Amino acid sequence: MTRVFVFLMFCLLLASLRHTLGAEVSLWNIGIDLNSPNGDAVFRKTLYSNTTIYMKFQGDLAACDHKNVSFNVSWYLRSSICYNEVFSTPDNEAMAMFGWDHQLKQDWSGFYSQGYIYFNNCHALFTPTTYYKEFQPFLSLSPQEGRSVNQTKHIWEDKPDMYAVAKSWSDSPYMFILRFQTQHHSEASKGHRDTGDGDASSNSKDNLSITIKMNGPHDYSSPTDWPLMMVSFSFESWCVRVI
Ligand SMILES: *[C@@H]1O[C@H](CO)[C@@H](O)[C@H](O)[C@H]1NC(C)=O
Ligand SMILES: *[C@@H]1O[C@H](CO)[C@@H](O)[C@H](O)[C@H]1NC(C)=O
Ligand SMILES: *[C@@H]1O[C@H](CO)[C@@H](O)[C@H](O)[C@H]1NC(C)=O
Ligand SMILES: *[C@@H]1O[C@H](CO)[C@@H](O)[C@H](O)[C@H]1NC(C)=O
Ligand SMILES: *[C@@H]1O[C@H](CO)[C@@H](O)[C@H](O)[C@H]1NC(C)=O
Repeated sequence: MTRVFVFLMFCLLLASLRHTLGAEVSLWNIGIDLNSPNGDAVFRKTLYSNTTIYMKFQGDLAACDHKNVSFNVSWYLRSSICYNEVFSTPDNEAMAMFGWDHQLKQDWSGFYSQGYIYFNNCHALFTPTTYYKEFQPFLSLSPQEGRSVNQTKHIWEDKPDMYAVAKSWSDSPYMFILRFQTQHHSEASKGHRDTGDGDASSNSKDNLSITIKMNGPHDYSSPTDWPLMMVSFSFESWCVRVI
């Protein structure tokens, strides 16, 4: 018993060291190539409960010229009691967990929420907007794949503000995965030369960037930014794989 305790304390120490060496990031800016914008991105952070995740696009409006495209930006937010599930899962494996309703391992409990935002043209990306009337509900992860239990949808009372996408439901490590899907609509071309246009448009003004901001009850700080507070956050646990 004491051995397990010592081991756990050691893990806590390691985790706190990791954080004192560098506070977790709460603001990301990633570039998207408008000519091939399909792809996923994963963001990880330990969040206080009631932290709002915002998403905003920035770029040169001129990049939208001559582009008849629509975007489906879907997202998936997942919490886990296991610190290592969130922070030690490689990006490619994390992205493969997009949309999962089940736990990664037995007893690695957590919650998830998901949704999508549809932009029916390029300019819509840059229009200041409130994406949702209500925050999407969150659900608990089922113990096993394919064994969907009678799920309670947890509903939010407060309303999303501008650019708000999702909200955290507990003090816990989270992964937030974004998926971009682009649909190119071919214009009713009247002698329109596609090839020449396509090549000419692949220049640097076509880039756009997306900013993800996680702003909680204590502004941008995370529960793990303060080693002294670690003691009060028992969620900082490493989980052992049950084979
Ligand atoms: C959550 O945060 C919002 C502001 O973002 C605030 O209005 C609300 O009262 C908070 N809810 C709780 C339960 O702290
Ligand atoms: C687009 O790319 C250029 C050069 O690669 C860079 O200087 C510029 O800041 C980028 N713009 C955006 C909106 O990302
Ligand atoms: C957007 O993508 C999500 C899943 O990635 C899908 O469920 C949804 O139907 C899509 N919406 C549109 C309008 O294409
Ligand atoms: C599922 O939940 C509903 C109401 O929450 C309840 O009436 C029903 O009996 C539950 N079904 C099972 C199989 O637990
Ligand atoms: C964009 O594509 C859609 C679907 O193909 C078409 O209905 C629409 O007229 C096009 N818009 C422009 C500005 O070309």
